[in-house]
Amino acid sequence: MFEIPTSTKQHDESRQGEALLIENDPQKSNGRKLYIESYGCQMNFSDSEIVASILLDKGFETTRDYREADVIFINTCSIRENAEQRVRNRLKEFESAKAKNPGMVVGVLGCMAERLKSKFLEEEKLVDVVVGPDAYRDLPNLIEQVDEGSRAVNVLLSREETYADISPVRLNTNGVTAFISIMRGCDNMCSFCVVPFTRGRERSRDPQSIVKEAQNLFHAGYREVTLLGQNVDSYKYTAAVADGEEAGPTITFANLLELVAQVNPLLRVRFSTSHPKDITNDVLYTMAKYENICKYIHLPVQSGNSRVLQLMNRTYDRAWYMERINAIRSIIPNCGISTDVITGFCSETEEEHQETISMMDYVKYDYAYMFAYSERPGTLAAKRYADDVPEEVKKRRLTEVVDRQRRHSLERLQTYVGKTHKVLIEGFSKRSDKDYCGRNDQNAMVVFPVDERYKVGDYVNVFTDKCTSATLIGVISS
Ligand code: SAH
Ligand code: SF4
Ligand code: F3S
Repeated sequence: MFEIPTSTKQHDESRQGEALLIENDPQKSNGRKLYIESYGCQMNFSDSEIVASILLDKGFETTRDYREADVIFINTCSIRENAEQRVRNRLKEFESAKAKNPGMVVGVLGCMAERLKSKFLEEEKLVDVVVGPDAYRDLPNLIEQVDEGSRAVNVLLSREETYADISPVRLNTNGVTAFISIMRGCDNMCSFCVVPFTRGRERSRDPQSIVKEAQNLFHAGYREVTLLGQNVDSYKYTAAVADGEEAGPTITFANLLELVAQVNPLLRVRFSTSHPKDITNDVLYTMAKYENICKYIHLPVQSGNSRVLQLMNRTYDRAWYMERINAIRSIIPNCGISTDVITGFCSETEEEHQETISMMDYVKYDYAYMFAYSERPGTLAAKRYADDVPEEVKKRRLTEVVDRQRRHSLERLQTYVGKTHKVLIEGFSKRSDKDYCGRNDQNAMVVFPVDERYKVGDYVNVFTDKCTSATLIGVISS
């Protein structure tokens, strides 16, 4: 079996923390070592690149070994209870390192920091500093406060902060694919979800800074960018103008997609996440118009039943979602589609669960991220509805959904077998350096023997003649 490189796991919140390594300018060094580990969604990994950039600027070096660090940061996720549990377990592992080096600063960043605020300091004696996702510019100052002997907290959320002017340091990069945050926060208030509380109000980043970042990446040799946001389809930016002047045009997500696609035809563009209520035909037509916008959409359904969707406050129903799928299939006939599913949401019946399965049969997703419902304190669902589906029923429904998806993933992959795919070479296969790996337009992983004529970062046509459960296998045909 071939393994999928971690860089393709764009939406997998269950990822274990990854330690980050950055190169440092020896001239600037302050002699202190930073260790940073990230959990949760791609936005968190992207934020860690901003944090690294801020601290690199202050002369920090990085290390992959937390035992030799002067500052340990853990960038956390609150999306499900087990995500938080994982972080707490990890903090325990840092205890002995701190006991050996009492000057060590331990900081909790990200969504869990925002959710628990100063309570974190009471609950976890080890922690010196708690910093929410909109307060990273304050980190050098907060570290200084800790150096002076106090513990420090900054969990202020902002309506403006997009870190637009900070060039993220690309960490653990393959040099070919990169993520660009285009917006922050979320205004949707899905009843199960903690994100609006941990990430604050939705705000869009200046399109010029996004295009510039894409251009810089292209010039540095990158060949694919993924535009990131909790709900990219509601991206909207109107340039601020002086009093009395006429407001400039409003840039929508479709406009932004076009601007980034025009950076260079050799730069592939992907994006995530789309919300079914907001994805417009304009976006679909823009995708169809540009060869370099990948034909792949992550469109979380959550449930296939309209009553459950209403309780979830998703603001679409089953018929609306199916209509959006039909629109995708007719405007972009060869589009890959993936989704997120929650099983056992409050009061979900067996029949309603079956409707999720029948929706999966209808769409035949290429890929899905599937979860048992986990009640999050403070959310609308926690306040309004009883978490009344027994744990074993949630788990059984989850197994059913996972089994169905496994079949569909394989069926979808099989439709790609026997065809030639344009693949961007992202690196060597994890299993063997005699094989390259990369993805096709629809985001399926393709593995094929190295051909000396082509290098990482090149596009090649690969004829695929077979597949495993998650990977297409083929040979370069031109
Ligand atoms: N902004 C994205 C989702 C971000 S969270 C969107 O709207 O699609 C990623 C996924 O985690 C969600 O799509 C949902 O399927 C899952 N999730 C969120 N809260 C959850 C909870 N309380 N229990 C279980 N799964 C949850
Ligand atoms: Fe959460 Fe819904 Fe916002 Fe996604 S759109 S982040 S699920 S509130
Ligand atoms: Fe987790 Fe926060 Fe992302 S809760 S999924 S890290 S926005």
